[in-house]
Amino acid sequence: MKILVALMLLFVIAQFFSPKKNQSGLYAIDQFFVETEAPTEVKKILSQACFDCHSDQTTYPWYNSVTPVNYWLNSHVNGGKSHFDVSKWSTYSIKRKAHKLEELVEQVEQDKMPLASYKWTHKGANLSSDQIEALVDWAQTEIFAYGLVKSNLFISTDED
Ligand code: HEC
Repeated sequence: MKILVALMLLFVIAQFFSPKKNQSGLYAIDQFFVETEAPTEVKKILSQACFDCHSDQTTYPWYNSVTPVNYWLNSHVNGGKSHFDVSKWSTYSIKRKAHKLEELVEQVEQDKMPLASYKWTHKGANLSSDQIEALVDWAQTEIFAYGLVKSNLFISTDED
């Protein structure tokens, strides 16, 4: 009984602690969309299924107000951003951009992204085969475009 009370107390105290929210606005995402010429459909899919963990703008579920769930969600956001962060897109080299889009194709085609645990809680993140095709088509066009920029067939103002 004492242990139970102690655990409950600990839980109550824990509620005073929470990680900083990952919400720095939509500007960088818009820049990413413009640069990669994302069609409306692609914008919608990425925003619904990916950007909670791959941008600086996370939409949090209500249970993010519960510690320690928020720390667990935060670790996914940080893990996702460390591999692929569209809010940092402007800091990536052209080579890295193309490589990230190649990884995106791989992850989506192999059904590794979005994370399974995310799909259980976000209906809109269960991608249909049409949505996967739209993502892959767009990414491949952009990989090709970055390849052209890199081989200097296009004159680019993008210097790295
Ligand atoms: C719930 C958080 C979450 C969501 C939603 C999510 N990802 Fe991820 N993503 C991660 C994490 C965490 C990693 C790091 C690798 C790992 O743990 O598997 C990652 C890694 C990646 C990588 C890099 C893989 C590599 O080889 O470095 C790509 C690309 C990616 N995700 C694309 C996507 C796309 C596209 C979507 C949407 C269709 C998406 N992710 C949705 C969390 C997420």
